[in-house]
Amino acid sequence: MMSDDKSTNSDIDVTIFVCTNCRDEADNAVRPGLAMIEALKTATAGKPLAVKPVTCLANCEKSPSAAFNHRSGWSYLFGHLTLDNIDDIVTGAMMLAADERGFLPLRGRPTCLRGKGMTARIPPFHHHEDMPQ
Ligand code: FES
Repeated sequence: MMSDDKSTNSDIDVTIFVCTNCRDEADNAVRPGLAMIEALKTATAGKPLAVKPVTCLANCEKSPSAAFNHRSGWSYLFGHLTLDNIDDIVTGAMMLAADERGFLPLRGRPTCLRGKGMTARIPPFHHHEDMPQ
């Protein structure tokens, strides 16, 4: 029997964290992240992606929010997402999972995961750059 929890699966390269506390602009009682998580779980079936809830990503001004966390690569924080973006979120997470550097390329990245939709990128634990000259 397969477990619903893919977090212990060593085949997972990217975890998509979705905020469960962001509120819908039009209806404060609605938390869009809950439906997004269900839709993402379906859309990521069979892929090296996990989908997990998180209470807040400190991106509340751009809600609804989600983040990509690569097992050894970069992390990314996104906002202004909707249920219409599910396929694009999966596309972006798969691009990150497939990238040898653990980097989410700009070229080919879905529109909702760039520009105003993107809040931050965070380097991996072992990232190193020399100081600029
Ligand atoms: S409540 Fe969703 S990012 Fe803070």
